[in-house]
Amino acid sequence: MQFGAFTALDGVDIEVEPGEVHSLIGPNGAGKTTLLNTIAGDVKPTRGRIVFDNEDVTGLLPHMCVQKGISRTFQIPNVMPGIKVWESVWLGINSKAKISWHPFVGAKYADAIARKVRELCQIVGLEESMDELAGNLSHGDQKILEIAMAMSLDGSLLLLDEPTQGVSPGEIDTFMSIIKKVSETKTVLMVEHNMDVVLGVSDRVTVLDHGRVIANSTPSEVVNDEQVRQVYLGTTDV
Ligand SMILES: Nc1ncnc2c1ncn2[C@@H]1O[C@H](COP(=O)(O)OP(=O)(O)OP(=O)(O)O)[C@@H](O)[C@H]1O
Ligand SMILES: [Mg+2]
Repeated sequence: MQFGAFTALDGVDIEVEPGEVHSLIGPNGAGKTTLLNTIAGDVKPTRGRIVFDNEDVTGLLPHMCVQKGISRTFQIPNVMPGIKVWESVWLGINSKAKISWHPFVGAKYADAIARKVRELCQIVGLEESMDELAGNLSHGDQKILEIAMAMSLDGSLLLLDEPTQGVSPGEIDTFMSIIKKVSETKTVLMVEHNMDVVLGVSDRVTVLDHGRVIANSTPSEVVNDEQVRQVYLGTTDV
């Protein structure tokens, strides 16, 4: 991925297996968000290919990627502050189900959709806050709502960009259990800085530095990798 003369991603080659939790780590500016952006269709890669489910999805627009089954969250929470939690989730379910917005046609499916909305809110632990405005939620709950909104699009691949960024240490365990629960039904590719989370939930870890992959392995192999320690952790000391 080139931005003018600047190379943000350079020969990145990664494979995410169905059903796994795959973490992307690396220093600030390494290209992690850019990689998610290329997969989600938010930027079009200058060269190379993105294959999802045996289909070339390179350069598809974001809404097309959603139709294919790829959905994402953002590094900075991107909820709609003026609508309620249940409405935020309802929007995704309703639009992905391609149900008519006409009240008489839509009404036929209202109960089934309401059940799905509640189920999804339960999975992420937001059931008690379903009637809250999204903008009134804590930062942590907004990040959780974003995960629920991405799940509401019913894809098979979830891209999470720093789900625990700005989240208080006391909430980290909650996020880890949400990610584990989500991964029971979805493949997850996640950018994450918190090593407890990375080690706690990942099947595989890819390390980026200056736009290049410097390691791609199991969590325990990655943290013991000399180069990763130098580049990412800033030390080779245990
Ligand atoms: N649209 C863009 N135009 C120009 N440069 C960009 C653009 N998007 C990203 N970059 C540059 O690409 C590099 C990688 O950025 P990116 O946001 O992917 O890093 P990151 O690994 O997600 O970092 P962080 O951990 O800080 O979120 C940075 O130098 C950034 O300034
Ligand atoms: Mg980023």
